[in-house]
Amino acid sequence: MNFAPRIVAWQRRHGRHDLPWQNTRDPYRIWLSEIMLQQTQVSTVIPYYQRFLERFPDLAALAAADQDEVMPYWAGLGYYARARNLHRCAQEIVRDWNGRFPPDAAGIATLPGIGRSTAAAIAAFAYGETSPIMDGNVKRVFTRHFGIAGDPSKREVETRLWTLAEEQVATARADAAILAAVASAAAATPEEDPVAACMVNYMASYTQGLMDLGATLCTRGKPDCARCPVQATCVARIEGRQAELPTPKARKATPERSTGMLVLRHGGRVLLQQRPSPGIWGGLWSLPEFDPAQGAATACETLGAQAGDLCELAAFAHTFTHFRLHVRPWLVTLRQAPATVAAPQRWVDEAELAQVALPAPVRKLLDGLFAAGLPHMLPA
Ligand code: ADE
Repeated sequence: MNFAPRIVAWQRRHGRHDLPWQNTRDPYRIWLSEIMLQQTQVSTVIPYYQRFLERFPDLAALAAADQDEVMPYWAGLGYYARARNLHRCAQEIVRDWNGRFPPDAAGIATLPGIGRSTAAAIAAFAYGETSPIMDGNVKRVFTRHFGIAGDPSKREVETRLWTLAEEQVATARADAAILAAVASAAAATPEEDPVAACMVNYMASYTQGLMDLGATLCTRGKPDCARCPVQATCVARIEGRQAELPTPKARKATPERSTGMLVLRHGGRVLLQQRPSPGIWGGLWSLPEFDPAQGAATACETLGAQAGDLCELAAFAHTFTHFRLHVRPWLVTLRQAPATVAAPQRWVDEAELAQVALPAPVRKLLDGLFAAGLPHMLPA
């Protein structure tokens, strides 16, 4: 049997069927889920997805919102360029596509921040289009099954994988067409379009099946080959090379950076600063930063802080994709009213922090501080 029908049959019996973005053909909902699921696990995405849809139930609602209204619904998910691009996409669709989601993968791929694989996944789930996907999980399945060595993020290897994915999709299309013809002959009423329905279901199951296989059986550490639907033809399993495929990236040392952060408080308020966009945490509200070599006292001099107002907090580190950030935070409790501040800074009531789009490590720092009762130990 071909590769695709085994994936489809397995997905229908053993794959995931009740994720909140399944059982819909609404491209808006599917698009949102695919963007949230880039680099983020299903269990993390689910509550964000639900909250986002409650506030922005459709494309028009998202396009009409201000970017600052969108960011709080992404705060904590990471990779904030995704949220900024999502919002830009919604506005572009309203402006250039008459408010209708582009009808195929090629159109979807023209939108900001949507690559070939994401566009194909959206088109497969929403329209049943036969376009191949090739995300991280699928790269693992393909490199193992077809025995493709070499770092899959390198152009040459990636091109090879895309070619294989296209070949498999072509056989999937042929299989679906046969099933569709059978369904057509058996159609109960002339209004049904069994051919179209069959194609959509088949491609959605194939696409979801590849994702499910990569996420549940063909995992990085301990693949469960005994339960895999394509084990009989898997080169890695036959040759015992599961641990070496996919070929790991050559490891480079992670660059390190350091910054100082000020938790400046006065009268039950904290000073926040909006991060420039694009950039790390772009559009989110973070704490004012300073060069640790300069010292915290100098950094908050202009706000009228005195030596006794400062208290150094426990340092922590946060890892981004391309570097590790070492943070040295200082709590500064101003005794006198601070100098006025201008954008991108603003004073925020501590009681309102829950509604502000803070980066996850900053939220953790502030939650830890306030939960520890520190604000009460120092004059606020
Ligand atoms: N990762 C990317 N897309 C996904 C989907 N539709 N379901 C589960 N995990 C995914």
